[in-house]
Amino acid sequence: MENNYSAEIKILENGPIQIKGEFVFRDSSGHKTTEYKEIYICRCGRSGNKPFCDNTHLKHG
Ligand code: FES
Repeated sequence: MENNYSAEIKILENGPIQIKGEFVFRDSSGHKTTEYKEIYICRCGRSGNKPFCDNTHLKHG
């Protein structure tokens, strides 16, 4: 990673949002859910495991 950022967010072409690094993920109430190193957030709205990508986007283009 560049500079001193602790996480990097990348929009993958025709796919999810990749978040990589040291960060905490919180639910809609603000409660800490889990600490992650890398996650993929669904951008197509069709995942069966929202908010995470489950690769359903590959079937729908
Ligand atoms: S972006 Fe992968 S399932 Fe939605």
